[in-house]
Amino acid sequence: MDKKPVVVVNGLVRKDALAYLREHVEVRQWIEKTVMPREELKEWLKEADGLWSVRPLDVDGDLVKDAPNLKVIAQAAVGYDNVKIDELTEAGIPYGNTPTVLNETVAELAFTLICTASRRILESMEFVTSGRWEQRPSNIKGKDLSRRTLGIIGMGAIGVSISRRARAFGMTVLYHNRHPRKDDALYMTTYKELDELLALSDVVCVMAPLTDETYHMCDESFFKKMKNDALFVNVGRGPIVDTDALVNALNSGEIDYAALDVTDPEPLPGDHPLLQTSKALVTPHIGSYTDRTRYDMTILTADNIIAGVHKKPLPACVNEEINYK
Ligand code: DGY
Repeated sequence: MDKKPVVVVNGLVRKDALAYLREHVEVRQWIEKTVMPREELKEWLKEADGLWSVRPLDVDGDLVKDAPNLKVIAQAAVGYDNVKIDELTEAGIPYGNTPTVLNETVAELAFTLICTASRRILESMEFVTSGRWEQRPSNIKGKDLSRRTLGIIGMGAIGVSISRRARAFGMTVLYHNRHPRKDDALYMTTYKELDELLALSDVVCVMAPLTDETYHMCDESFFKKMKNDALFVNVGRGPIVDTDALVNALNSGEIDYAALDVTDPEPLPGDHPLLQTSKALVTPHIGSYTDRTRYDMTILTADNIIAGVHKKPLPACVNEEINYK
C-alpha cells in the first residue's frame, strides 16, 4: 500500500475537519496548549508534504527552507498577513486561504457592531441591570443609522456585503479602495478619496487587509479628519490602527465611539487604556466565529491541503501563479 502524505498541524484545530483530513493523509499534530517552538516545527517539516498553519506563526522562506517535500501550506483564514507570500512563491509552495465562505458572517458581525454601538446597547443593558430605568442618562442616547453615511475603507467582497446591509438600513454608502469598483450602480455605492470619506462619514468602517501600506493608516491625523460625533469600526486587522492615537481621539472627543473586533495588541489586556475610555465596544476577533462558517473554513483548509499534497490545484490559492494545474 502507498504511504499516505504527511501533514503537520502546528496547533489545535476543529476535530471534524481534522477527522476529514485524516481520511486522506497522515496527520502529525502539535497538541500541547503552548505554541509549538519554531525550531521543532522546522524539524517536523523536514519530513512533511503539507502544513496546516495555526497562528501565531510567521510563515516565510526560513520556515520552509529545509522542507524538501513540502508541497502546500494552508491556514483557516482569509487574511494572510502572517505569511510572506513572495517567499513561498520563490520556494515553489502554493498557499491556500479561505475566501468567500466567511463573507456574510464577517459582514454580519461588522453590522452588528455598528448597530450595537450606535444604539448603545451594552450601556443600556448595564443601566437596566443596575436597577435604574427612569431618567435615562445621555450615555445611552443612541444615534440613527438611517439618513446617515457609512464610509467603508477596503471594499472587497466583505465590504460589499456590509454595504448591502447598510443600504437596507437607509444609509448612504461611500467607500475608499485602492481602485474604484466598476459595480457602484449595482450596489448604490460611491468611491471617495480617503480624506473626503473621513469628512463625510458618520460611521467609518475599516475592512482593509494589513499590508505595509495600511499599517497604522488610522493615526492621529486620520482621526482628526473624522467627524467629532462619528463611530469608528475596525473588523480588518488591529495594526491598521495606531491604538494610542485611537485612545487619544476617544478621550479628547475627536471622535465619538469605537467598535472593534480586532485590536493591537491581541489579546487586548483587560486593563488596557482603550477599555478605560467607556467609549469602546470590543469583541475578541470573532468575525468569522460561527459554527457553520468555521466548519466551512476548516473543511476548505483541509481541501486545500489534500489537493496540494497530491499536486492537484488548490481550490483557494493566494499565489495562483504557482498553483498546480
Ligand atoms: C480571517 O479569516 O482572516 C479572520 O480574521 C479570521 O482569522
